[in-house]
Amino acid sequence: MTTTHLELTGVDIEFPTPKGSFKALDNVNLKIKKGEYISLIGHSGCGKSTVLNIVAGLYQATKGGVLLDGKEVNEPGPERAVVFQNHSLLPWLTAYENVELAVKQVFKGKKSKAEMKEWIEHNLELVHMTHAMHKRPDEISGGMKQRVGIARALAMEPKVLLMDEPFGALDALTRAHLQDSLMEIQNELNNTVIMITHDVDEAVLLSDRIVMMTNGPEATVGEILEIDLPRPRNRIELADDPQYNHYRAAVLSFLYEKQRKPEESDAAAKPAKKEKLARNLQNDTTEETTGAVSTAETTTGNDKVKAA
Ligand SMILES: Nc1ncnc2c1ncn2[C@@H]1O[C@H](COP(=O)(O)OP(=O)(O)OP(=O)(O)O)[C@@H](O)[C@H]1O
Ligand SMILES: [Mg+2]
Repeated sequence: MTTTHLELTGVDIEFPTPKGSFKALDNVNLKIKKGEYISLIGHSGCGKSTVLNIVAGLYQATKGGVLLDGKEVNEPGPERAVVFQNHSLLPWLTAYENVELAVKQVFKGKKSKAEMKEWIEHNLELVHMTHAMHKRPDEISGGMKQRVGIARALAMEPKVLLMDEPFGALDALTRAHLQDSLMEIQNELNNTVIMITHDVDEAVLLSDRIVMMTNGPEATVGEILEIDLPRPRNRIELADDPQYNHYRAAVLSFLYEKQRKPEESDAAAKPAKKEKLARNLQNDTTEETTGAVSTAETTTGNDKVKAA
């Protein structure tokens, strides 16, 4: 029987602001099993990054807390590696040296020099970066930088991989390639992952469960959707899969019906927008990008759907 690996219990957070205290999260509860791939999805500003930062140990919950393997999380640690949207590589170091920095931090005294070299190269190979490992960040593309960021995180052999919109800044094609690489790596390593995404298709394609957050302030877990699709998953085959489309529609319905943002309510009430929302819910493909339901891109099929 699998037991809880990572547990968020009754997490509240309040931020001091000039106008007084702002309660961003209210009573967030989540239990994650070892090896699970969890996506966090919700409208912009609802509190996804805040949840991730609490798990990373960068923010401290005002109430409640986080346990990893029964141990309280209250500071950052290498067993919880973070991949940020903007890769955050050190610009004066090569891809290899960026990974090396993290490896030295974690494995100093545990691995020999030769073992470290082999481990760095292995992790760069996992993300298909062997050919460019001696290049600096300004000599490689955004997708390649993101690969190095993922290699650096994986090389730390974290218990939990935390990713805040890791592919958000990438074009659709690069994003699809990286999602496929990540699925391959995940298949091999079986990491526990929490990934924030705005992309409904990305969430369904990659996740074991999708955690959908309500709008803030005082945001919390709204619904959790279990994605029972066999792995390995193939984006082309899934585009026509009724079960895949059912999951997709469930997430869209949560985001654009149940948790429609207040400022979107007026717009959505207009017939044209309503019609567009309905079309998206039916998985109709549209290239138009106006309105709340189509502000950015996805990577499966032709349609462009993303949370605000
Ligand atoms: N350090 C802070 N001080 C004050 N308020 C904060 C702080 N960090 C986050 N917030 C507020 O908490 C709320 C949640 O922010 P958060 O960044 O977690 O949202 P998000 O869901 O990640 O949004 P996005 O999708 O745009 O990245 C927002 O209203 C934000 O302004
Ligand atoms: Mg965020």
